[in-house]
Amino acid sequence: MSFHFERPQGGLSDNHAEYLQLLEGLVSGEPDWLANLSNAASLLGLQLDEINWVGFYIMRGGELVLGPFSGKPACTRIAPGRGVCGTAAVRRETLVVPDVNEFPGHIACDAASRSEIVVPLVYEGRLVGVLDVDSPHVNRFGAPEQRYLEDVARVMAPWVAQGAI
Ligand code: SME
Repeated sequence: MSFHFERPQGGLSDNHAEYLQLLEGLVSGEPDWLANLSNAASLLGLQLDEINWVGFYIMRGGELVLGPFSGKPACTRIAPGRGVCGTAAVRRETLVVPDVNEFPGHIACDAASRSEIVVPLVYEGRLVGVLDVDSPHVNRFGAPEQRYLEDVARVMAPWVAQGAI
């Protein structure tokens, strides 16, 4: 397989449907959850501009454990309730943090990160992980990113569930 991706003109809202279709196409032909999470993390890294990290944390043994991602090596384990990831997981709601320095308890994995969005991954009523995206710019994430990443979360939650224990 030779994958080619070039970011088209326009913002995320303009490309939302096409981007989601690309993701669905990428994961629909492969039955392995780990392969699909890996390709999804890579694809999101290409689709979203001005970000420095995107990846999955998977609920394993009562903790959020680092899963496939695109970016620098990151914290491997996050307890529920800790940091932006653990807080979004416990609340089961998307957290948009315009400035990570203003979020008490933010866990700094990459010193370059300035803003962050975390979307919980819920499958059949079970919290199975979170999708985390970091940007080196303050206030990078707004409604288009939240809408898109929540759709991505719906597509990926069944796959993440297979890795959750
Ligand atoms: N900043 C996150 C930790 C994960 S890294 O950003 C990849 C947090 O506060 O939960």
